[in-house]
Amino acid sequence: MSITVIIPAGGSGERLGANLPKALVQLGGRTLIEHAVSQMSPIADQVIVAVPSGLEAQFQSLLGSEVTVVTGGITRTESVSAALKQVSKDSKYVLVHDAARPLASTDLARRIIKELEAGADAVIPGLKVVDTIKRVNVDGFVTKTPNRTKLRAIQTPQGFTRETLITAHKSESEATDDAGLVEELDIPVKVILGEDRALKITTPEDLIRANRFLFATTDAELRVGIGTDAHAFSSDPSRVMALAGLVWANEIGVDGHSDGDVAAHAICDALLSAAQCGDLGSNFGTSRPEYAGASGATLLQETLSIITRAGFAINNVAVQIVGNRPKIGPRRQEAIDALSQALGGAPVSVSATTTDGLGFTGEGKGLAAIATALITRK
Ligand code: CTP
Ligand code: MG
Repeated sequence: MSITVIIPAGGSGERLGANLPKALVQLGGRTLIEHAVSQMSPIADQVIVAVPSGLEAQFQSLLGSEVTVVTGGITRTESVSAALKQVSKDSKYVLVHDAARPLASTDLARRIIKELEAGADAVIPGLKVVDTIKRVNVDGFVTKTPNRTKLRAIQTPQGFTRETLITAHKSESEATDDAGLVEELDIPVKVILGEDRALKITTPEDLIRANRFLFATTDAELRVGIGTDAHAFSSDPSRVMALAGLVWANEIGVDGHSDGDVAAHAICDALLSAAQCGDLGSNFGTSRPEYAGASGATLLQETLSIITRAGFAINNVAVQIVGNRPKIGPRRQEAIDALSQALGGAPVSVSATTTDGLGFTGEGKGLAAIATALITRK
């Protein structure tokens, strides 16, 4: 059962005033039409884009050969009609979208299709309106105030059975959306819940709003944290060296309450500080004897579970080991794998440096580590 998505992109975008067709305007590093195509492609067997006359080749090279490009018309209705001629005979359902709604989600399209599969001929997304809407006459006087609770602001993609859409487009009418043509045939049009992110880009202010949706997680929800740790090399030559989640044979370890893994401890502190969950001492200090001698991996796992319970997920972690020995390079990948595994597969980087003979690390008296962590509130 095949599905076609039509995306009219044939407008000039006069109100946006960008000196190029609106569909080619950039949003977060991609054009509006690329956003729309990438959101709709996962549910589509066929994607047809109607473009301004003369720009067919430019759109085709931008969107690739999987997308069918057709020449748009003078109005949106004409652009959709032009695209309809290319719809595959195998298509049972056709969704008509707008390049001007680049962030409408794949999920919204899926929900539209679900209603079509349940038997509806026409399904459109809509949001409740917050403003009171009034009908006014040409002289600017109010003629009617419809009951706001019965009003919906309608979005795209709008879904139809193929026959319904083809029949609707046979009329000579113009409408600002395709459901308008279907309504004229007295075919019931079902409204389902739309999305804030399916907002329409009309003016430059709309681009700013869309940017906020796109970067919501990077802007508001990111947290960065820092952690350091240092330990003196042990005077006990049998003390095992644990560092970066690995055991280092032929190295003398460091003294400490736990296994003395400075890299793991610095990462734990960085994660706890990013999540505002205190530090190693406040979570696993001497008041928690069960953590005496705990391995770096155990503390990392426990830290991951603390920040997960606080509502955060790890973006990445970086740790730098400071000291004369051991040499990290030959076992760097092993260390990364061990730390990452303890952190549920989070991206980890491990670097190392000496300090040119300076300080306790340079004098070979001990080991230190510095870590940063980036996390996101889920
Ligand atoms: N559209 C189209 N063909 C037209 C006019 C509009 O395919 N002749 C498309 C637009 O590209 C857009 C959608 O219909 O994706 C909704 O139209 P609108 O937001 O009005 O876009 P523009 O017409 O480009 O903008 P403006 O009205 O400001 O010029
Ligand atoms: Mg227009």
